[in-house]
Amino acid sequence: MRLYVNIDHVATVREARRTDEPGPVRAAILAELAGADGITAHLRQDRRHVNDHDIERLHETVRTGLNLELSTEAEMVAIGCRLAPFQVTLVPERREEVTTEGGLDLSREGVRERVAEAVERLQGEGIRVSLFVDPTREAMTRSAELGVEAIEIHTGEYANASRSGRAGELARLHDAARAGREVGLAVHAGHGLTYENVVPVAALPESEEVNIGHSIVSRSVLVGIDRAVRGMREILRDAPGRVGEPGVWVPPQGF
Ligand code: PXP
Repeated sequence: MRLYVNIDHVATVREARRTDEPGPVRAAILAELAGADGITAHLRQDRRHVNDHDIERLHETVRTGLNLELSTEAEMVAIGCRLAPFQVTLVPERREEVTTEGGLDLSREGVRERVAEAVERLQGEGIRVSLFVDPTREAMTRSAELGVEAIEIHTGEYANASRSGRAGELARLHDAARAGREVGLAVHAGHGLTYENVVPVAALPESEEVNIGHSIVSRSVLVGIDRAVRGMREILRDAPGRVGEPGVWVPPQGF
């Protein structure tokens, strides 16, 4: 299971004072040294956390893989094409949202065309493209039709579910992950994943990558990024065999 660490919220803390610390590039380096398989950053149109300068420097510095999250707006796609990171994950974006609220709705005309155009341009530059989508079979089929390499399944509903609703949400994720594999897509997962809820998702046999930001950065504030990333790595190593056990997970010793 690959762990991609999203460092956006390191920049959120910096932007609270519009100063130059803490730096997302330093955080990325430390996350890599602690075992992250890749670094994720979302360059939003409003630049509320990471900015263009951060992205340029992350692109120069990251030695694992840089997964750049972008909307399908022409400006953002142009940035993706120019930098050509290892991977671009296309996400929906609304200015008023606190965080990405749902997956790309590929059933909507207009959205589908915009995504198709962005995919073509990015793949034309040799970039691996992933689409952030909701956990539905239809989203998997439509993503495959667009010819992308991967999808990232939105785990937000699972993460927000009540204790009693979580098993049902996990079943939805699993069904979507299966459908994704059936149509030949690499299956990633992300949003709202934490030290407490990640195990059942990481244990889905079809899923090969998780993207985690807020929970790791939050823990880093308290214990340091090295320990926070190592802790998540440790959990992911122990993931297999824990499917269907939400709520009964026990932290590894010494964590
Ligand atoms: N995946 C995608 C596509 C996202 O937009 C985000 C949030 O930026 C994440 C994963 C990470 O979510 P979280 O910060 O809740 O771990």
